[in-house]
Amino acid sequence: MDSFVPNLDNFTEDCSTVHAITIGNAQDLTVGRCARVQLPDGDELAVFNVDGEFHATENFCPHKGAPLSEGTLSGHVIECQWHGWQFDVRNGNCIPAGPQLKVYPVILEDGVLKIEI
Ligand code: FES
Repeated sequence: MDSFVPNLDNFTEDCSTVHAITIGNAQDLTVGRCARVQLPDGDELAVFNVDGEFHATENFCPHKGAPLSEGTLSGHVIECQWHGWQFDVRNGNCIPAGPQLKVYPVILEDGVLKIEI
């Protein structure tokens, strides 16, 4: 499993409640790979490279809490390693139906990945 630890030197804050956290270089997350992102508050996200498009979701499966960043990514579908639940990482939808994952916008800027939380 890959892992990103956000660069807090680049932690940005504006007047709203949206924060953009720099998580690392896009080239470090190749197509078809996923990685865990540890947030400053201890929470975790999962970030995915789907054919060059980056997506981020909460990291813990809503079934029993397995880390989705350790699941199997096939196209835009992540399969949880514990019991096989599947989610579309583009929108968080459970396949075919079930609890939805929270998703987060990913920004690619000059080769650097940022997630809005
Ligand atoms: S914990 Fe993910 S399917 Fe059970």
